[in-house]
Amino acid sequence: MCGIVGYFGLREAAPILVEGLEKLEYRGYDSAGVAILSEEGIEVSKCKGRLANLENRLMENPLEGNIGIGHTRWATHGEPSDVNSHPHSNAKVSVSVVHNGIIENYLRLREWLTSKGYEFLSETDTEVIPNLIDYYYKGNLIEAVMKAVSKMEGSYAIGVVCSKEPDKLVAVRKDSPLIVGLGKDEYFIASDIPAVLNHTRDIYLLEDKEFVVLTKDGVTLLNEMGETINKEVYHVTWNADAAEKGGYEDFMLKEIHEQPKAIKDTLTSRISLDHDIVLDKITITEETLKNIDRIYMVACGTAYHAAVVGKYVIEKLAKIPVEVDIASEFRYRDPLITEKSLIIVVSQSGETADTLAVLRDGKKKGARVIAITNVVGSSASREADDVLYTWAGPEIAVASTKAYVTQLIAMYIIALHFASLKKTLRQDEIYNIKKAMLELSGLAEETLKHKDVLQKFASQTYMEKDMFFLGRGLDYAVSMEGSLKLKEISYIHSEAYAGGELKHGPIALIEKGTVVIATLTQKDLIDKMVSNIKEVVTRGAKVMAITIEGNKDIEKTVDSVIYIPETLDILSPVLSVISLQLISYYMAKQKACDVDKPRNLAKSVTVE
Ligand code: G6P
Repeated sequence: MCGIVGYFGLREAAPILVEGLEKLEYRGYDSAGVAILSEEGIEVSKCKGRLANLENRLMENPLEGNIGIGHTRWATHGEPSDVNSHPHSNAKVSVSVVHNGIIENYLRLREWLTSKGYEFLSETDTEVIPNLIDYYYKGNLIEAVMKAVSKMEGSYAIGVVCSKEPDKLVAVRKDSPLIVGLGKDEYFIASDIPAVLNHTRDIYLLEDKEFVVLTKDGVTLLNEMGETINKEVYHVTWNADAAEKGGYEDFMLKEIHEQPKAIKDTLTSRISLDHDIVLDKITITEETLKNIDRIYMVACGTAYHAAVVGKYVIEKLAKIPVEVDIASEFRYRDPLITEKSLIIVVSQSGETADTLAVLRDGKKKGARVIAITNVVGSSASREADDVLYTWAGPEIAVASTKAYVTQLIAMYIIALHFASLKKTLRQDEIYNIKKAMLELSGLAEETLKHKDVLQKFASQTYMEKDMFFLGRGLDYAVSMEGSLKLKEISYIHSEAYAGGELKHGPIALIEKGTVVIATLTQKDLIDKMVSNIKEVVTRGAKVMAITIEGNKDIEKTVDSVIYIPETLDILSPVLSVISLQLISYYMAKQKACDVDKPRNLAKSVTVE
């Protein structure tokens, strides 16, 4: 969590840092701050609240200097407040640090530093870092940072400036992302690429325990032994515009509308009617697959919901048993991972701490790991044995939409690929599924046209305190995602239930006027779902149904209906979720919520 930036160059640092932080606000927005280094020393400006507060402060009291670090925070240790905001400094303000991650042994370090006479102002774990660096500083900043880092346990991406060496900026990472931007006579560090894209497309992707030193002579990369290392420059090919709103009111709405393209991009070059599935970064063969007795799909949040769909689909098409789990649960429950296990981690960012822990532990235990991720060069993509990129483009809104849809596409691709290797499907069956997949982008476009009914429904129901989502089979899986979206951005409490499970308890909560959103796209389950809907209608519920075109009968049972185009049952989550996303979006807009930056949330959760 949190976003960090750093600038070293010839221009004024503060505005460039603030602009970079704007692009990283998806990582947290409880407070923001910058530290600017000049010949006169370090000056810090930081405050609680959104970045706009910091901007106002900097307008009143501008900070001048060409070197600086900045931070946007998602609070873990210590409430959001001015004093807990980053950058943190030692008492003399000779060292300032921005940090993304958690220093797990900070209490011990803090006690020890206190015994050496150091004083602490904040409740944060981060404050130990500038003090440790100060303690170890004996005339060489890099050595002091290396020494300090060797005492720190946990995760970190840090940027450091020191008034005793006003000609450099030092940074290092472990288990939190960090990139270096290479401009002309200017250099950047950042938690993520969009923060530097207005200035450069040439990037170094740092690995764990790699240090970077920015000076006027350029960028030096060092390993943990202090030896100089070389790295390939990664050239970003996507456009900075992809991370801008492009005329839409919010990033979320823009990203919902980008789904047809994201689907197409994720399928392109992999699925074609003329050739076998092409997965260049997945090298699993028929032989390897024979040796796999179980798949574990592990993820968090929305990515977990995509994994739930993955279970249904892989079991159905490839006939391999799949267990799905939430990463933070899986890692502490002693799962029975063996060399015959295949772990598929799903992560938009590829940086979620719990998901990465599962990946690493799985590899240690000899399992093969595939990462499905949206971020090229992310930790997950680098550490997994095989990678399947979702080509959703940068997703900025905290609530995930296009990443989820492309994760579903990734599930279908993997399921089909395995089915083809294992020969659990005939060639004509594979052909038909591929054909239907290639139609999905156009059908998603169609689905986006039905906004009026959804908007009307939202305007009638946005004041509700609770809602239910119902579905069976894949419709249940997609209902879980619909319910999460509603909670995340409109703050309406909701639960997703499997249609048949409702009567085992939750039906007690249904009373006159309770809003139920029922999804019915699985043809062999429609009748069963209609019975479940009748159970709630009888008890006074107001029901909105999402179903496939042609299922006109449903109008006799429910209050309103939204029709999605017909496709194969297994593929329908790609379309039904679009309607669910739009329902949440319009509810949130009716309530005047900040849809792109919902309270208490962050897009990338790089802490446990
Ligand atoms: C956070 C975000 C969710 C996201 C989850 C997993 O909670 O708010 O939108 O689904 O992290 O993130 P990942 O990057 O691993 O997919």
